[in-house]
Amino acid sequence: MPLTFFILTFCILVLLVVMSYKIRSFKISREEYFREFGEEDPKKSNISTARNNVYALIVITSAALIFSLYIIVKDTIYAGHLMEWLNIVVRLLHITFGIAWIGASFYFVFLENALNRTENVREELAGNLWAVHGGGFYYLEKYKIAPSQIPKHLHWFKYEAYFTWLSGFCLLFIVYYFNASAMLIDKQVLDISPLAGIIIGVGSFILAWFIYDLMCKSPLKKNIVLFSVTGLIIATAFAFGYSHIFSGRAAFIHFGAMLGSIMAANVFFVIIPSQKAMVKAAKDGKFLDPQLGKNALMRSLHNNYFTLPVLFVMVSNHFPSTFGNKYSWIILIIITIGTAGIKHWLNLREKGKLSIWILPSSIVILLAAAFLSAPKSNNAKCESTVSETEVYAIIQNRCISCHSDKPTDPAYTAPPNGIAYRNINDVIKLKDRILQRVVITHTMPQNNKTNMTEEERNIIKCWIEQSK
Ligand code: HEC
Repeated sequence: MPLTFFILTFCILVLLVVMSYKIRSFKISREEYFREFGEEDPKKSNISTARNNVYALIVITSAALIFSLYIIVKDTIYAGHLMEWLNIVVRLLHITFGIAWIGASFYFVFLENALNRTENVREELAGNLWAVHGGGFYYLEKYKIAPSQIPKHLHWFKYEAYFTWLSGFCLLFIVYYFNASAMLIDKQVLDISPLAGIIIGVGSFILAWFIYDLMCKSPLKKNIVLFSVTGLIIATAFAFGYSHIFSGRAAFIHFGAMLGSIMAANVFFVIIPSQKAMVKAAKDGKFLDPQLGKNALMRSLHNNYFTLPVLFVMVSNHFPSTFGNKYSWIILIIITIGTAGIKHWLNLREKGKLSIWILPSSIVILLAAAFLSAPKSNNAKCESTVSETEVYAIIQNRCISCHSDKPTDPAYTAPPNGIAYRNINDVIKLKDRILQRVVITHTMPQNNKTNMTEEERNIIKCWIEQSK
């Protein structure tokens, strides 16, 4: 079995390499033509169609590769392994593209904020900036609208955004949708079918985009305070909705994916089309509507404010005290406001504006989230001494379907996070983490799949307290 697996992967990889070479040769031949004849190859559009076909082929082949692997390993011991590796690869891609995108976003908002707009600025320029980085000096100029002649090589920042979104969307399927009954749905929150959950999830991103886009086109955009407050109320409604439909973790991820989808859609539907229209108008020597640039700038500023909340959601999975809380949606919104506040402070600081109160108030807001998510004291009485045998019996009943060397739960082929409760000593070693997950946050057993009772949680709690 693994041999077929490797041969197949190897063949497809060879194919992908050949295709990428093809793309490179297209590009080179186009550049050679330009160098020789000083003009674009008349066959340019043919070449780009061919190139796009190759790109499409690469995407289809990769999808087919993954799908056939899935068919091959389905119902074998490799199924979980395939999911794990897909998770690793796609997550790495997602983080890498995300860093490139957010890095560029931070950099350009910084540029915009830090431009020298007064000293020695030519008439056609909005400003300039000197910088030193990596042992070199850089000098940048921003045009008020566009240069009189659009240069041949113009760098567009768009693939970072598209690929971040695409890889994130794939990750949503790999982690949450393919394993919906374990990861997406928590029957104690809402008992819906996996398909209904997926439709609600994906549908909510589309709905959020339509609402947001409408807000940006309405007169609301002229009043920044009103715009932000309305946006926040709507975001709160989404957070509330998600946390009453999905499991705690999935609710957080959907909130982040919703914001992330708006960000990517901003790039795809507004920022890039405005830029294309600007380039075209400049090339044709037509009137250039400055509103185009302003629209794009507004959307990219919104994106900039979304970054820190989205980054929090991306790592929130590690923090059960946030997503496992009874009022997780309030905590999520508080952290969203606090982190966006910090971004606001950074933006103002780059502009050289003194904003004394924004940073401390953002920190106070974040502290409120820490305060709200603190464990509540559990006053359940511990009457008798709990024996280790009693505890281990509960663990065997409720935990080892996942946490053992050979889990019987179909969703896992290896103990999650490497934690297996082979005997009571394994339980004793991890008792602090068990207290956190089982007693305080109720985030284990995962989505309470094994129906652990409140009494059993109390027995665990008493045992941990008594053993101190
Ligand atoms: C349905 C499968 C499943 C069951 C049942 C389950 N767990 Fe887990 N557990 C997981 C998964 C998946 C993770 C890793 C993801 C996470 O941390 O949420 C995990 C993580 C943990 C962690 C965190 C480990 C770390 O790295 O911090 C602890 C502690 C834990 N489980 C304890 C328990 C206990 C105790 C029980 C029984 C009362 C239990 N689990 C039942 C699936 C399960």
